Amino acid sequence: MRHPDSLEFSATETRQLIDAVAERIEHQIRTLPGQPVDTSGEVSADLVRSFREGLPESATDFDELLNLIFDKAAPAGLNPTSPGFMGYVPGGGLFHAALADLISNTLNRYVGVTMVAPAFVQIEANVLRWFNEIIGYPEQARGFLTSGGSMATLSAVITARHVRLGEDFSKAVIYLSDQIHHCLNKAARLAGFPASALHVLPADEAFRLDPDALRKAMEEDRSRGLEPFMIAASAGTTNTGAIDPLPELAALAKEEHLWLHVDAAYGGFFCLTERGKQKLKGLEMADSVVLDPHKSLFLPYGTGALLVREGRDLKATHSSGADYMPLMQEGDELMDFCELSPELTRPFRGLRVWLPMKMHGVGVFRDYLDEKLDLTDWIQQQIAQLPELEIIAPAELSIMAFALRDTFETLESRNAATRKLMSFINEQQRVSLTGTTVRGLFVIRIAVLVYRVHQERMEMLLEDLKAGLAAMN
Ligand SMILES: Cc1ncc(COP(=O)(O)O)c(C=O)c1O
Repeated sequence: MRHPDSLEFSATETRQLIDAVAERIEHQIRTLPGQPVDTSGEVSADLVRSFREGLPESATDFDELLNLIFDKAAPAGLNPTSPGFMGYVPGGGLFHAALADLISNTLNRYVGVTMVAPAFVQIEANVLRWFNEIIGYPEQARGFLTSGGSMATLSAVITARHVRLGEDFSKAVIYLSDQIHHCLNKAARLAGFPASALHVLPADEAFRLDPDALRKAMEEDRSRGLEPFMIAASAGTTNTGAIDPLPELAALAKEEHLWLHVDAAYGGFFCLTERGKQKLKGLEMADSVVLDPHKSLFLPYGTGALLVREGRDLKATHSSGADYMPLMQEGDELMDFCELSPELTRPFRGLRVWLPMKMHGVGVFRDYLDEKLDLTDWIQQQIAQLPELEIIAPAELSIMAFALRDTFETLESRNAATRKLMSFINEQQRVSLTGTTVRGLFVIRIAVLVYRVHQERMEMLLEDLKAGLAAMN
């Protein structure tokens, strides 16, 4: 029988392949500051069509493939690694994680069970312990890494449901503000809750969940025979960066025996800084917390985390054995991630967090996050001095939102003008901002979180903003 061997590279070929990729990557990173930040407004149907192809029967030259990836595909659309990207909730994508992925994908070890890759599982467990320490969780807390905040949120809702409600959750109610990230609505639906189980409360003037309104809603729901079960709060909303009053919500949840979940996907890692720690007080009292290292720890997409205060709740929800599985650990010292999370076979996400944190030490991440807080303060002060603009949501951390001052006849014309201003700024291709609507008002958001954003880029933003205002007069 013929023995196919072309999937195995020689030592020289392996080096050549890595060198070829390294050259492209080095060029990509070096030229990043001059690249357009966002060309997603110009989706080209021709480009998309040119990428359609059938099952390849024959081989294509590697260089040709790299040309396709780096020269044709990469320049089209939004560039979230750019020092000018300040839209949505950015992060930047530390290159270190790509090195970690190269190593872990080459080793391809199975990290779902301690016995199978004991040291690597411990590395991932260390990362989760560090996260627990960052948010002030106790010793018994456990967690796992996910592909992102949405998947972590789904597991949080399912864990809370399983632990607090068992099999019958027909009367359960989940409380959340109208400012919470929509992944909560999605998670509740996927976890089996009907839309009527979500009690959405209008946020207060500062876009936060109001504990008094919450208390009242619970009383009303109880009087209708419903079962208040969970409060879902935000430690930094996507819309305006608002932080819900966590200590009050934690006290209320305790008093009423509700599960408090906090979405800290954006804000959580600011606990590394003194200012962030103050703002996020109370996070440590939540029953579950979602963090997104691919946001405020600057990692590339594909790294989220769920932390649960009572680690045993994760095991109670996810543990499920089979005869063909290797031996699982008893006790708390060693952990099998397949017993704590929905995944059985999983990528080694721990290494992509561990490597950069070990290479630099956590202090460097703290400094970068502090810098983002300073840059946000700076741009906010500049905007406050421009009479044409009104700050609608001052920054709690590194997201703020503003609009043109209300000198317009209608809300529609004010919104249209603010949109036009944002388009003008984005068209300069030095920064990319995104907007949102709060209570009908269109606002421009500035989200300072890409680790590559520094003072020069903020000054470019201010110049383009001022030029946009001048162009409108
Ligand atoms: C506050 C917040 N929560 C949750 C999510 C969802 O996270 P992911 O996109 O990683 O699934 C996001 C995404 O932007 C977010 O900003």
